[in-house]
This record gives sequence, structure tokens and C-alpha cells, in this order.
Amino acid sequence: MIRKYHFGNPLNTEAVVKEYPIDKGEIPCIEVKEGEKISFIMTKGAPVYGLGEQVRGINKRGWIYTSNCTDDPNHREDTHSLYGAHNFLVFAEAEPFGLFLDNPGKVTFDIGYTQQDIAVITMDSWDMDLYYIDGKDLKDIVKQFRHMVGRSYIPPKWAFGFGQSRWGYQSEEDIREVEQRYRELDIPLDSIYLDIDYMERFKDFTLNDETFPDFPEFVKEMQEKHIHLVPIIDAGVKIEEGYPVYEEGVEKGYFCKEKDGKDFVAAVWPGRVHFPDMLNPEARRWFGLKYKFLLEQGIDGFWNDMNEPAIFYSENRLEKVFDELETFRGKNQDLMTHFHFKDLVLGLANNPEDYRSFYHNFNGEGTLIRHDKVHNLYGYNMTRAAGEAFEELEPDKRILMFSRSSYIGMHRYGGIWQGDNLSWWSHLLLNIKMMPSLNMCGFLYTGADLGGFGADTTEDLVLRWMQFGLFTPLMRNHAALGTREQELYQFSNSEACGNMVKIRYSLLPYLYSEYMKAALRDEMMFRPLAFDYPEDPFADQVEDQLMIGDSIMAAPVHEQNATGRYVYLPEDMMLVTMRSPEDYDVQPMEKGHHYVPAAMEELIFFIRKNHVIPVAKSAKSVAEMDFEHLDLLGYVTEEAVYELYDDDGYSKDYENPEHYETITVTSQGTISQNGKMKKEFGKFSGIR
Ligand code: GLC
Repeated sequence: MIRKYHFGNPLNTEAVVKEYPIDKGEIPCIEVKEGEKISFIMTKGAPVYGLGEQVRGINKRGWIYTSNCTDDPNHREDTHSLYGAHNFLVFAEAEPFGLFLDNPGKVTFDIGYTQQDIAVITMDSWDMDLYYIDGKDLKDIVKQFRHMVGRSYIPPKWAFGFGQSRWGYQSEEDIREVEQRYRELDIPLDSIYLDIDYMERFKDFTLNDETFPDFPEFVKEMQEKHIHLVPIIDAGVKIEEGYPVYEEGVEKGYFCKEKDGKDFVAAVWPGRVHFPDMLNPEARRWFGLKYKFLLEQGIDGFWNDMNEPAIFYSENRLEKVFDELETFRGKNQDLMTHFHFKDLVLGLANNPEDYRSFYHNFNGEGTLIRHDKVHNLYGYNMTRAAGEAFEELEPDKRILMFSRSSYIGMHRYGGIWQGDNLSWWSHLLLNIKMMPSLNMCGFLYTGADLGGFGADTTEDLVLRWMQFGLFTPLMRNHAALGTREQELYQFSNSEACGNMVKIRYSLLPYLYSEYMKAALRDEMMFRPLAFDYPEDPFADQVEDQLMIGDSIMAAPVHEQNATGRYVYLPEDMMLVTMRSPEDYDVQPMEKGHHYVPAAMEELIFFIRKNHVIPVAKSAKSVAEMDFEHLDLLGYVTEEAVYELYDDDGYSKDYENPEHYETITVTSQGTISQNGKMKKEFGKFSGIR
């Protein structure tokens, strides 16, 4: 059951899509001191789940987190805010409940940081809607929440293929080389990402026509090779006379303003920019329709970046800093003054004062709202701009869209990648832990920069990261300018890396089916073990294994030099040790604790007893896959029933019952089908 409480005078963020009456009674369980804090005394050891894109564990206890969308490429354990702000959490008490704070400003969640068993939530503004959700179990609470915030974004099927990206690809030749080298090694590939260098001097909706002389032709050439080009779009619009996006925005008053009505000037990649007022529906529509420029040239996927929005410096602050720096000239700088000197420059980026110095025409109502009060809605509404425009421009087609910054509500318009990470083993682990938290909050189409974005990667990290990434809906290798090259063909063991991509493609019928069912039913594709095995005494202790869909449990290796790992099985399962789609071993294992070997080039995962997964033959791209002739891999001692979802991958008739097929496998080996799809099941492998 969902209860809605109203505090102050909340802005309508449109995070919630259903109507609820306002409850005027007491909120169960939690204590509210309006204007001060919300608190809850947690049972010793009872986990707390949620908060989406955040640092630390699946169980959020023991740290303090702040919802404040932040560009922090060097995040560590002691970070408090990442790129998204997802104010939904579930307390796994004897009588579990969830809370969603629909509050677009800064909110801080002290989950047993100050006092071990007390959760305290504080916020800048008490204008908000608060939702309290109770239900029969954790899954039920999440499902009710997800129903309340609306269906998660569904990408085209090709976006489940593998993508290669790198900040630094400059030209058609660079992109062609990526395609050729993947093909030479026979590694599947569906997309190549265009980072900021495809634009003319980092201006949105322009093309560098020296390095991309005939873009539509090039898009076509790549399409013929089944490669989708996916360009980046940045939040800031370059200030430049003669640049139509800038001139139109100024003329129509569509940019964020300073208090006195002047357009706010910040700086990002192109230098000085204005930020389109994504919170004003008219400006949002205007910006969204700009994507047409690229759609018309054959583009069918985008990534939205720097939309926290990230600020390198603001024009006003830069002036002040220059003036102050001048006063240091010739002076002796001691401990305090030298640090202050350094902080002046370092504090230019993403300065909280800058976020308090510009305004939005929120919902076009004319009253200006200061940015910091709605900060967490900016990336959401940039992606909504695109999503709404796609509905208008391409109503019958799915367009790939994912964003860096987000707020709950944005999950209806696009996915997210998990922002800039580093080529660190701990960031591989963070990627694993973030998946279920993000799924809870509605972000199903997600994944991290595989191999790590910043810092030099290593071959073993790439390979191990691929072994987890091959399960994540967004599977993209991406790296920062200046770091070691990390396309899979750069490594001596590119064959093993390539095999992991091939395994991904062979698992696509399963992964796509599980994704679609999770989206259509408001469920989680990636779940902590405790969600599926609530009675199990060990399940809530497991932080590095995940249930993926109905049949699989992943147990990725995430430590350097490990040749295996400890795994906890909450029930009998079958271990699958895979070196390639054709080369694998299976072994039944009993519920309990095990040490499982996993050599560097071996993927290990588990299939639950009396469960099967559909598998296909890998191909060079999703378009070239045969989804009609499938095999089954499973562990059947009695009977396994699998519900398969499939569709054409680009149209939107999701509700059509013809997209489902129920497959029953008995221990005698009989495979029977029930449904309208024309799937043929060949061999069964595994154990029965
Ligand atoms: C940001 C993005 C990153 C991109 C870079 C250059 O750091 O997060 O993915 O490569 O900008 O556009």
C-alpha cells in the first residue's frame, strides 16, 4: 500500500505518474520533525536497500549519502554523491517498507553513519511529497514503487549488442579502424560511439565536416556493416555568433538566467556556454527537436552528457578568482594561504555558489526557481527533452538514449551509464553492487564503462570486467582521452575477450527476454540474493553475487590474480564454466558455501535447479542473429518452465500476447512449447 504525504509547497517533478490522495495522518514507523529531520530506528543487522547510483554496498548501512547530481570522475569509498539522485530506499525490517522522497534539491541520507542503528534524512528544502510504501516483501514494495513512477525505458534490441567507445576517436578513419579490427578478429560489435570530437568545436547538433566530410553516407556505410553510430550530446550550448542553436536560444529566452535576467554563462568543453532551460517545457521541446538534425542523417541512438550540469567555471567566478589570485603575487604563501590559493582554482569547477546563481522558468509558469532547488532535475529533463522529441519525430521506432545524470522519472525516457569510473578493481565491484540498486529505482538499461574510463587499464581487468559486463543491458567499453587504449583487439588475449562478447550474444535471447519482462512488469532484472531468498540466513550477507532474471545467478570474479572465488549457493544450482559459447562445462552443486575455480579466460555463472535459459548462436551483430532456432541450457531434475519474451526489437507493440512462449522441459527430456512464436528448440544441454 502506498501513502502520500505532502510537506510545504512541492514542485511537480513528474517523477510519479499515478495519482494518490494526500494522507493527513501519522506516517507509520518513521519519526518526522518537520523542517529538521526524518528518522528511523533500524533493527540491528536489518539491511537497507536502494539509493540507485551511489557508492558502497548493496546494503547501504554504515555511510552517509547525498542526493546531489555531481560530476566526480575520481569517486572513491568516501564520496557522498555521484551523477544521479535517486531518493528511494527500502528498509528490510521484519515489516519492510520503502520511502520515496520526491524532493529535487539536496537530500542527505545518514544510514547509520552518525549512530549505527539510526537512519536520519535531512534536506535543504522541506517542500516535497513523501511516499511510504509497505508490502508483503521487498520485491512487492519495489514493484509498487515502480508502478507508481511508470514503466522503464525500453531500448531497441540492437542496443543489447556490444558497443565500443573512446574519447579521442577523431574521424571516419578512426571509426572505420575500430570496425575493421573487430571484424578481423571476428568479435561481434553493434555500435561505435562518437564522443565530442565528431562535432564542430564541441557544438551540439553540428558535425566536423573536415573529419566527417559526408556524414549521412558514412552512417550508411556503417549501417551496411550493422554498426550503429551513437553520438554524444552535451548540456551546454556554445556561445558563438552565427551558431543557430545559440542564436535561437537567446532570441527565444530559452537559456537559464541570472537573477537580473541575463543569460547565465558557464563553461564546459567549448568554453563559454549557456544552459538550455530544460525545466521549461517550451525550451525543452525546442532542444529536443534539435536531435532531428542527427536522426535525419540516419542516427538512431544518443548519449546525453555533462548534464548534472557539470560546470568547469562560471564567467562571474572566473573573474573574481583572477582578481584574487593577483593579490598573491609576490607574497610569501604559508600553509593556509597556499592551500587557499590552490582552492581558488580547484574550486572553480562545480562550485555550489554557481548552482545558486542561475534560475529556471519552471514548468513555464513564469516564476523563476533558483537552480539549486531543482538541481537534480536537470539531467532528467534533458533526457526527457530527447525522449519526448523522439515520440514526436519517430513515434513507431525505439531510439537508444542514455544519460549521465538522472533523477527518478528519467527512467521512463532513457537509461544511464554509471558515469566516469576508473580502471580500478574496486570500480568493477562498484558496478556489480550498483546494478540492483539502480534496478530498484527503475533504471534497467544501464551498465558501467567496461574496462574503466579514467586511468590505465590492464588486460586482466578488462577480461574480468567483460565477464560481468556481458550480463548488463548496456555493454560498452569506453575510455578517457590519454589513457591506455583498451579496445579488445589491443590485448594479447583478445581471443578470450572476444569469446566473452560471443557469450553475451549467445545469451541474448535470455537477457532480452528478462529485460523486457522486468520492464513490462515493473520488476528488477538484477536482484540482491536476499530479494529472492528472504528466509535464507546468509543471503543478505552476499554483496558480490546477483540474481539476473529468472534462472541465472552471477558470481563474477572481481579481484586481480584470483583464479577462482568463494560462492554462496542459496539453493542447489548448476555451475556453468564457459570459455566460449561452444566450450563449456557444467556441474551440479549443492546449496551452501563453495570455492569455485575460474581461470582468467573462464566465465563462471550458475543456473538454478529446475530452470533453463534459451541460448542462440552468436553472430557478428544483433541484426545477424538467428532468434528463431534456439537451444536450451539448464538443470532439470523434475520440470523447468521458462517464459520467453521476444519481439522484432524496434517497434513498440509490447503488449502483444504473441510475444510470449512458454517452454516446458521435463527430466525425460521432453520440450514442449505453448505460444504463438515460431521458435524451434534444438538441443538441450546441461543436466537432467
Ligand atoms: C565526460 C563523459 C565521458 C566522455 C567525456 C568527453 O567525462 O562522462 O564519457 O568521454 O566527457 O566527452
